[in-house]
Amino acid sequence: MSLSFTAGQYVGDDLWVPVLDGAPRQYVDLDTAATSSASVAVARAVRDFLPWYASVHRGAGIRSQLTSARYEDAREVMVRFVGGNPATHMALFPRNTTEALNLLAFRLGLTKDDVVVTTAAEHHANLLPWRRHAQLRVVDVDERGTFDVAAVEAALDQQPRPRVLAVTGGSNVTGWLPDLRAIAAAARQRGVLVVVDGAQLVPHRPVDITALGIDVIAFSGHKMYAPFGAGALVVPRSLLASGEPFLVGGGAVGAVSFDDVIWADGPDRDDAGSPNVLGVVALTASADELRSDGWASVLAHEEHLLRALDSELASVPGLHRLGPVAGDRLPVAAFNLDGVPHGLLAARLANEYAIGTRSGCFCAHPYMGRLLGLSDAEVGQFHADVRAGRRQRLPGAVRVSANRQTYLTDIPMLGQALREIAATPEGSARYVLDERGDFVPRTGALVPVSAR
Ligand SMILES: Cc1ncc(COP(=O)(O)O)c(C=O)c1O
Repeated sequence: MSLSFTAGQYVGDDLWVPVLDGAPRQYVDLDTAATSSASVAVARAVRDFLPWYASVHRGAGIRSQLTSARYEDAREVMVRFVGGNPATHMALFPRNTTEALNLLAFRLGLTKDDVVVTTAAEHHANLLPWRRHAQLRVVDVDERGTFDVAAVEAALDQQPRPRVLAVTGGSNVTGWLPDLRAIAAAARQRGVLVVVDGAQLVPHRPVDITALGIDVIAFSGHKMYAPFGAGALVVPRSLLASGEPFLVGGGAVGAVSFDDVIWADGPDRDDAGSPNVLGVVALTASADELRSDGWASVLAHEEHLLRALDSELASVPGLHRLGPVAGDRLPVAAFNLDGVPHGLLAARLANEYAIGTRSGCFCAHPYMGRLLGLSDAEVGQFHADVRAGRRQRLPGAVRVSANRQTYLTDIPMLGQALREIAATPEGSARYVLDERGDFVPRTGALVPVSAR
C-alpha cells in the first residue's frame, strides 16, 4: 500500500497556498479548535490496520475476529485515557461530541419536568440536546465570559432540584477553563449527575474523570488529531443499563420478533448498525500518542503558544479581546479589530497572509451575545436577520486557535499580519460581501492548484 505522509508530525503541515500578492506562502492553520490535522502516527495506524479491516461481531473469519477484538479493546483504552475504570465505565463511539450529547440526553429519560443546569459559556452541542428533553437552568457569565463555583452552587440549590449538570471542560470561544473539580464536587454533593463536554479539554489536557469527580465525558476525534469520524462518550455502565437505545437496529438487540424486542446489554445496546472501526482505531492511536509522548511536552508547548498569542494580540492597535486574558486557558483567542468587520478580517488573513482562522459566533451564540454585550433588542435583530436570510452584517468575532500541531513561529506571523491589516484599512476595498455573508476577493477565490 502506498500512502505516504509528509516528514512532519501532522498530515498537511507543509502546505503552500496562493495569496493575493506575491508568491505562495506556507499555510498557517490557526483554526485547530474547529478541527485538527491528522497526526502522522494516527494516519499510519489507520493505514496499517486497513488490511485487517472487516465487519465487527458479524464474521467467523480471522479478519472479522481481529477487527472485533480491536474495536472492543478500544473501549477500555478510551475509558482509561480519561481516567475511568473499565469495570464501572464504558466507552461508546458516536460520530462526535454532538452525537454523544444527543445520545446521552435521550438515554437519561428526561422529561420537561426535569431540570438540567448548564452555563452560558456552552457550545450549542451542550445546550440544544438538553433543551430538547428538559428545562434548562443557565448559569450566566460575567462580562469576561466566566462564572464562579458559587454561581453554579446557587443554580444547583434552586428548586426544583436538577438531575444533571452539563458543563464545558473548556470554551471553544475564549479558551477559558472552568474549575471542573470544584464544580463537579458541588454537583456530586447534591446528587446531581456531572456531564462534561470535553471537546476542547481532552485534546489539550490530561483528564482524570475519577479524580475530578466527573460522571460522563464526551469528546471528538477530529479535534484530537484523529479525523476519521469517531468521537467518544465515556459513561457509567449503570447509567445506560436499561431503557431504549437512541439508535435502534441491528447489533443493539438480543432478539427481535414482529412484536417484541430484547435489547442487548452493555455497550452493544447503544451501538446499533455497523460501527466506525477506522475512526476508533484512529481515536485510540491518538490517545496512545498523546499519552506516550507525555502531557508535559504538550502543556509546555501550548503554554508558549498562549503567552505568544497574548503578547502579539496586545500589540495590535484597535484590537479588542473577548473573554479572560489571564489565568490558565487554552491557546484560543476571540477578538475584533476596530473598523474591520470580523468576516473581512478573517478573509484578509486568509487571502493575503495564508492564515486560516474562523469568524462568526462559533456555534456558541448565547455566549457570544454575552461577550459582545448584545442587548435583547440586538439579539432579536440578529434572529430577525437570520430568519429573513440577511446574513451580511451578523455580529461575531474572529477566533484563532492553536494546539500541539502549531509552530511557535506561526504566532508572530499572525501578530505581524494583524498589525499590517490594522494599518491598511484601505485593503478592505479589495473584497466584496457576497449574498451568503462571506467576504471574497474581487478577483475571485484563490484555490491551490493541488486542491482544484
Ligand atoms: C466545546 C465544544 N463542544 C462541542 C463541540 C461539538 O463538536 P463536534 O462538532 O465534534 O460534535 C465543539 C466543536 O467545536 C466544541 O468546541
